[in-house]
Amino acid sequence: MALVLGIETSCDETAAAVVDEDFHVHSSVIESSIDQHRAFGGVVPELAGRAHVTTIGPVVRQALEIAGLNPLDPALEGIAVTSGPGLIGSLLVGLSAAKAFSLAWGVPYIGVNHLEGHLFAPLLEQPDLEWPLLTLLVSGGHSLIVLQSGPGEHEVLGETIDDAAGEAYDKVARWLGLGYPGGPEIDRLAHDGTAGNLKLPISMTGEGYDLSFSGLKTAVVRATEKQKDLPIADVAASFQAAVAEQLLRKLGLALERYPVKGLALAGGVAANSALRRGVTDLAKEFGIVALLPTTANCTDNAAMIAGAGIYRLRHNGPSPLDLSANPNWQLVDVS
Ligand code: KG4
Ligand code: ZN
Repeated sequence: MALVLGIETSCDETAAAVVDEDFHVHSSVIESSIDQHRAFGGVVPELAGRAHVTTIGPVVRQALEIAGLNPLDPALEGIAVTSGPGLIGSLLVGLSAAKAFSLAWGVPYIGVNHLEGHLFAPLLEQPDLEWPLLTLLVSGGHSLIVLQSGPGEHEVLGETIDDAAGEAYDKVARWLGLGYPGGPEIDRLAHDGTAGNLKLPISMTGEGYDLSFSGLKTAVVRATEKQKDLPIADVAASFQAAVAEQLLRKLGLALERYPVKGLALAGGVAANSALRRGVTDLAKEFGIVALLPTTANCTDNAAMIAGAGIYRLRHNGPSPLDLSANPNWQLVDVS
């Protein structure tokens, strides 16, 4: 059984995983430096980079051992590493480690696009899923609507023209005096609030699939400045409803145009309860399957990188040793 080691260090998670050619996960280890960043209200790149340096070795070793491999000479088909997009200092730690392991073990390695990695997450839970899929990828750094005709074949239908959905959650949470990351906190508060109590605009109501969250964030700031006595739970519920409405409306438009077999969620914001509920209902309405990976597979991890790496290694071949990290690597259409 061919095994690939995945390495992910694009943000604050240092992760390593071993996945086989049928997308079964043999190990998946994640260490996060998030506790070091909380006080600053966001990830501090220098701290994240330094944390990766100390953590990468033990995390890779642990992933190999859990998968039953010899960490000094593992029997691998290849190594897949996130080489972009992400924080440059963090990416370089993972990429340098992958190159070093590749040379030491005599195993080919490949640089993988982090966003393409997210698109492989549903496959890790359901290797026999039916294509094509419509996927909403929403995280702290990205928000995209992607049409996937098969593994490794995708077309970006739309993306945010300003903030990412998670970024908007984090900024609104900060404005409301909540902790970082703010998404889970707002989601929790929203359960006890009434969405209609704060009127917020729905952005991007046109025909295209692009998204926008910056205006919504500003609207929350303006409205709460004016109505200082508004319960925070109502603000959270109203904001959450407005984000979900925009996303679900765009997904509905895309489903009307593209006949797909499944509707998938990926990225950290996929943990959001309103979004999960909405996507489940929308899939039911269109008679298709809702693919809602567990939070562990939605947030940054190395198993998804290994999954994408297996496909890319076999279709594109290994990367050269002089490959650079690309912090702004866009997800381009592949057919
Ligand atoms: O994918 P992820 O773990 O990291 C990257 O950004 O790559 O996503 C983290 C983002 C944060 O912005 C966080 O606030 C958001 O996901 N998030 C949520 C929820 N859980 C995490 N946003 C809304 N509702 C949630 N339940
Ligand atoms: Zn991510």
